[in-house]
Amino acid sequence: MTQDFQVVVRPVRQVTGSLRLPGDKSVSHRYAILGAIAEGPTRLQNFSAAQDCTATLHCLRMLGCEWRRESDAIVIEGRGLQLTAPGAPLDCGNSGSTMRMLSGILAGQKFSSELFGDASLSQRPMARITEPLTLMGANIHAIGAEGRPPLRIAEGKLHGIPYRPPVASAQVKTALLFAGLFANGETRIEEPVRTRDHGELALRAFGAEVKRQENAVSILGGQRLHGIEATVPGDLSSAAFFLCAAALFPGSQLVVESVLMNPTRARLLDVLMQMGLGISVMQLEEDHGELTGTLQVKGGPLKGIVISGATTAALIDEIPVLAAIAPYTDTGLEVHDARELRVKESDRIAAIAANLRAMGAQVEEREDGLRIPGNQKLHGAAIDSFGDHRIAMAFAVAGLRAEGETQIRNAGAAAVSFPGFFEELESVTVA
Ligand code: S3P
Repeated sequence: MTQDFQVVVRPVRQVTGSLRLPGDKSVSHRYAILGAIAEGPTRLQNFSAAQDCTATLHCLRMLGCEWRRESDAIVIEGRGLQLTAPGAPLDCGNSGSTMRMLSGILAGQKFSSELFGDASLSQRPMARITEPLTLMGANIHAIGAEGRPPLRIAEGKLHGIPYRPPVASAQVKTALLFAGLFANGETRIEEPVRTRDHGELALRAFGAEVKRQENAVSILGGQRLHGIEATVPGDLSSAAFFLCAAALFPGSQLVVESVLMNPTRARLLDVLMQMGLGISVMQLEEDHGELTGTLQVKGGPLKGIVISGATTAALIDEIPVLAAIAPYTDTGLEVHDARELRVKESDRIAAIAANLRAMGAQVEEREDGLRIPGNQKLHGAAIDSFGDHRIAMAFAVAGLRAEGETQIRNAGAAAVSFPGFFEELESVTVA
């Protein structure tokens, strides 16, 4: 799906300006999927522009759900809980969220389906989904080697279970809650570490009752959903690249309007403040349980930080860009408990280490993390995105303060979560 092109990043002196970002990817996937199985239309303003979310929409169309774009909104005609058999395997592209979350819905349907993805998604672990869904009575098999995609799903009769996922994953939690709608009785998921709660909030927004008790969430089967009208908050994980770019230059001044402020995602802001970025949040608002705010950001001297445990889990998508600015901090960055990074869109620990080294930095790569010393000078280099959107964008940010030109190869990968990223970055930088 991604085009292959190269972007050249040159050093800049300042980051300044104002941005409003396309809708959050995590929220957009969930609203689209629940819109499809709700009764009545769902109208979503500021739906994500990410290729990943387009993959979800295309799969939904193949499942008999009509949707259309109307000015800056997507209107989804809800089908109620039962979708229709697709005429061909469903292409999830690069999107683990699409494959995992849709599995939860498809396990409860009265037809067979198959889900496949691109080369990167075909390497990603799916046992975390197939095992609990099988325990719920689903007829689901990962037919790639060692529990990898494609996934084949046939009609099954689902019953609720209590389940403790061995890895902290919001995608798994969401898939099981979605499957729980089609199950007899209660599905209860107790997480090892609390992950983003967009699945629970979205289910409630569409009218389902979801209970929470500390780290456990539960849902009763047989609940019907109704369509909603909502505005998707700006994507905080996309905002992270601009916040980190601003953090590189003391004196930077940036405004990011109407961005997601969900507390299970906003740990990034605490970490960036500890690292020396001045952040004020204004105009906090709530829509369907999701908080949105406008960020006013001021760059200052950059401090190092150590990230571990629940903080690592809460920041998992932002570690590539934090690592990309780490050499410019005073004491550097240490990341622990990040083994999951090895099974994202690329092996992100290896990709970060390879690219930082190409730019002249010292890096210690560990099985579950990284140590990147501070006070290092980077030079421009040819770096590879490894087909991973967050690696492409993170190293564009690193290049802003490097000496000389940085060439980002396979830069088109950025469109997986953020088409137009490089143009937006250019619009807020001052050479
Ligand atoms: C996501 C959860 C995370 C994250 C991914 C989006 C979600 O994945 O890395 O980009 O929307 O639930 P895991 O659930 O695999 O941790």
